[in-house]
Amino acid sequence: MGEMVVAIDIGTSKICALCGQIGKAGQLETIARSVIPCGGVKKGLIVDMEAVSGAISEAVRQAETGAGIKIGSAYVGVMGMYVDMRANRSSMVNARENREIQGKDIERLLYAARDVALPEDAQILYVIPRQYVIDGYGGIMEPVGMVGVNVELEADIVAGKNMYISNIVSCMSGAGVKIDGLVLSGEALGQMILSREEMEMGVILIDVGGSVTDVSVFKKGRLIMYESVPVGGDHITNDISIGMKMSYAEADKIKKDYNLALTSLIRKDQELYVVDINNNLRKRVVISEIIEVIEARVFEIMSMCKDLLGENKIEFSFGAGVVLTGGGIACFDGNKHIAGEVFRLPVRVFPPRMYGSQRAASLLAEGIVKHVSAAGAGGGGRFGSDVQVLKRRDIRAGGALLRRIVELLKRIF
Ligand SMILES: Nc1ncnc2c1ncn2[C@@H]1O[C@H](COP(=O)(O)OP(=O)(O)OP(=O)(O)O)[C@@H](O)[C@H]1O
Ligand SMILES: [Mg+2]
Repeated sequence: MGEMVVAIDIGTSKICALCGQIGKAGQLETIARSVIPCGGVKKGLIVDMEAVSGAISEAVRQAETGAGIKIGSAYVGVMGMYVDMRANRSSMVNARENREIQGKDIERLLYAARDVALPEDAQILYVIPRQYVIDGYGGIMEPVGMVGVNVELEADIVAGKNMYISNIVSCMSGAGVKIDGLVLSGEALGQMILSREEMEMGVILIDVGGSVTDVSVFKKGRLIMYESVPVGGDHITNDISIGMKMSYAEADKIKKDYNLALTSLIRKDQELYVVDINNNLRKRVVISEIIEVIEARVFEIMSMCKDLLGENKIEFSFGAGVVLTGGGIACFDGNKHIAGEVFRLPVRVFPPRMYGSQRAASLLAEGIVKHVSAAGAGGGGRFGSDVQVLKRRDIRAGGALLRRIVELLKRIF
């Protein structure tokens, strides 16, 4: 049984906290999960620190109550828009008499690999070792104890924009939770959703969120591109609201009620009455016109994702095609058809319709737990969060204390 890991996903529409561990059969065991709606993030950037900090605190508190634990620290997902991944290598000559490679040699190689030119507003988050090459033999992941003279490390250096990272750090600290490590969301989601074969054959993972769409490309078993486009499901609602002159809330409800992205799938058109935002009068709209707006936006989001591949000079074949996920378009009928038309590749959608919204909303947090447990954040082999298991008595005492505080507040106000 693995150590307990706590993960936090700071998303545009919600904050998710998840506490889990890897079971004996290698499966993820979720001990507690909580999803707190929060609007403090725009285009992936924290814009309302107080709201985000409060939501993290609430999510963690609910997870603590659910699992009967006290959470001191957690891993946090970081998204493609403000992080950058670049390959680098470092090497050393092992002068030791017995030629045995030691842990400190690896530490030195990992440190040397951090020597990359970065923009002024960015900082290195961690180093992902991809392979060690010892005297010309590659594909080695655990070199300590092996014998060799020329030792090389090929690694990916993950760097993040200072402002993005410092906002995460401040919000976590405001919520009283230490950061165990930052994890690339694309890599974590890949662990959760993709099979090993898909990652090997080449696959494009598209996560359409609230205001950002993350695109991760995997090939030969590893993440080779992780980028974002600043458009998501909220833009679809916005288009309906502006295009059809109705309130955002009404547009969002219709979008979620119909869950359709393709006009050609409409068998029989329907009429609806909505309130016109210009004159406050009820007016008639036809569903096919709304679906047309959704179709255009989904098509645009997919095209923008495809353009990213060109910009990053990703030209190899994708044997496993495209995998679509994220609340933004995962529920829409017709999404597969549109993505298939844009990419000219087979498309699969995850999670399936009947998955349950809480589980769907916590996919990334689940992926973080799985990823951290499998590799240790940054491949450093360390994992596990600062979690204190409470005895039943402590939980009850905590509940009683909370009740007393609530009672006190009620009396004051
Ligand atoms: N049933 C539904 N049908 C269509 N869209 C939906 C449905 N439920 C949620 N959405 C949309 O999904 C989006 C939120 O998706 P998700 O929860 O994946 O985003 P997030 O992780 O919070 O955001 P991000 O990844 O951009 O930070 C919102 O735009 C919301 O309107
Ligand atoms: Mg998300």
